[in-house]
Amino acid sequence: MHDPATEVEKLREELRRHEHLYYVLDQPEITDAEYDALMRRLQVLEAEHPELGAADSPTQRVGGKPREGFTKVHHTSQMLSLDNALNEAEVRDFDRRVRDLLGGEPFRYVTELKMDGLSMAAHYRGGQFVQAVTRGDGLVGEEVTENARTIRSLPLRVKTEIESFEVRGETVMNRRAFERLNAEREERGLSRFANPRNAAAGSLRVLEPQITASRRLDYYTYFLFTGGRAAFDSHWQSLEELSRMGFKVNPHRTIASGVEEVLAFCAEWESRREELPYEIDGVVIKVDSVEQQRLLGYTAKAPRWAIAYKYPARQAVTTVDGIDVQVGRTGALTPVAHLKPVEVGGVTVSRATLHNEDEIERLGLEIGDQVVIERSGDVIPRVVRVHAQGSYRKRFRMPSACPVCGGTVVREEGEAASRCINTNCSARLKESILHFASRGVMNIDGVGDALVDQLVDRGMVESVADLYSLTLEKLMTLERMGKKSAGNILRNIGKSKQNPLPRVLSALGIRFVGERTAVFLAETFGSLDVIAGAGIEDLQGAEEVGPKVAESVFQFFREPRNRELVERLRAEGLQFTYLSTRPKGGPLKGLTFVLTGTLPHLSREEAARRIEAAGGKVSGSVSKKTHYVVAGADPGSKIVKAQELGIPVLDEDLLLDLLRPE
Ligand code: IVH
Repeated sequence: MHDPATEVEKLREELRRHEHLYYVLDQPEITDAEYDALMRRLQVLEAEHPELGAADSPTQRVGGKPREGFTKVHHTSQMLSLDNALNEAEVRDFDRRVRDLLGGEPFRYVTELKMDGLSMAAHYRGGQFVQAVTRGDGLVGEEVTENARTIRSLPLRVKTEIESFEVRGETVMNRRAFERLNAEREERGLSRFANPRNAAAGSLRVLEPQITASRRLDYYTYFLFTGGRAAFDSHWQSLEELSRMGFKVNPHRTIASGVEEVLAFCAEWESRREELPYEIDGVVIKVDSVEQQRLLGYTAKAPRWAIAYKYPARQAVTTVDGIDVQVGRTGALTPVAHLKPVEVGGVTVSRATLHNEDEIERLGLEIGDQVVIERSGDVIPRVVRVHAQGSYRKRFRMPSACPVCGGTVVREEGEAASRCINTNCSARLKESILHFASRGVMNIDGVGDALVDQLVDRGMVESVADLYSLTLEKLMTLERMGKKSAGNILRNIGKSKQNPLPRVLSALGIRFVGERTAVFLAETFGSLDVIAGAGIEDLQGAEEVGPKVAESVFQFFREPRNRELVERLRAEGLQFTYLSTRPKGGPLKGLTFVLTGTLPHLSREEAARRIEAAGGKVSGSVSKKTHYVVAGADPGSKIVKAQELGIPVLDEDLLLDLLRPE
């Protein structure tokens, strides 16, 4: 294919289809690596042909430049909240009121899961995503367009006849992303998010879209509006239309013809909520007919046609019988409370994480105390507070020797964690292998806890590199390992050699080098050998790499064991080089532009995006540092200032000339 414009459009179409299959329908047709390859091809073409750039291209989800603050935006109509029903009786009360107010007219309810996130409105014009606004106080929210653009399940372009519409829905973080984020934060010495909702809110409301991009948020829609009102007469129909348009709509919903069916749905999901990959905190019950919704009307803050049935908080009180210590990949010792078994939201809980010594101190917890525990997002519950001190109490002390290998335990200045410093510790090795194989890192399916335990305990694997020397015969000596699964595991291990350098880098388990930092390092240096040979100062040349990270990377490659590991992985054929896809430099590198007035073809945003894609900077005001002012119709005072300072003024044509790659 020789015409880049055609290829770009084709790639975009294809990527959009795969995004929808993967992020909305959860039915991918291609592997992550194949998807990445398509994305990279598109990135390369767009970098080579900045004139083909488009705000709704799938490449634009990576996260643009940071901003200084959020703009407040008025909602088209108030984003209301809901009244709560805390038990069955309150749902029946709600149903009675609805029936009374509708005076015996037949009606139906739509029941949906109440996802625990934060609500957001997204606006579309001509089928293109143009703006996203958080709920805020319901009347005025914050504009988070660039951040929302990074959410893969939010389509940037949809096929529809409706010229202008708005969707409303819930931004959530699924449990896996939440756990991963917290693990990464802990590793970097940052505080954990208490639950996925806080994590979602903290990820959407950040000034750097790249941070949002790395957090893997999800967006489920539940309203479709045109001109500030429901687009269809039936709420159910709106949901179906949203789904048809390519939005993610929670599939677990029903249309119910009476309160009994509603209650059955509530009960069903109360017991099944653990099956869901995200947190829910109840069920939302809505009258289906928009006409009847209008008849029922609103109280000051909530509609009379809907209610939230809230599940009870998943907390319980129990006794701490003891505190154990677990050893992680970096040698960090995590205290874990042993609890008198107790049921919390349908699951029997006997352990809760205590994170570190400081946390135990903060809680004022001793062994023997009664505590309130809570399950939210984390696989393993947490201790919220001490409920009552035990009559017999015992203080916890961090052991001075590693409970697994007996190695020395050290707590460094300014660190929350105590660590086993024996690099041969088998607990550390097991965790390192699990990290190496995990999703988002080397992504080796089938290498889980049970397998790793056996591999390490039998001495078959003493380093992650040994995974690549496993054979069918060796694997088949393991318990419950048939030829077929052994074959699959070997194939998955083999496939992992194709993972690009950033994954290899994060697989090495260098402290403070998560997925994101690994990408920046790979982008900047292009090969593992350059990174391994770089000095502390050079390393800081990569985005987001400060002295702490640079020091950690530097030290990692000074360690003979690690160098040996690297050599073994090289011999196995892992990817040690990386072809950067981001425009480096570009024709406008080092030049600052100011835009003013209306350009004939490009919107202000589009012009700015193209200047930035070509390596230039866009600034809001004219100063001595400005290189060019680009002026369109009705330019305003900036042009006067430019003339005063003798700064060249360009029109759109001249700008496009500059943008053309030499
Ligand atoms: S409808 C006027 N539907 O719950 C109707 N809300 O307690 C307002 N939520 O602010 C919202 N899942 O953040 C609706 N399927 C769903 C929902 C849902 C979660 C959240 C939303 C809302 C809050 C109300």
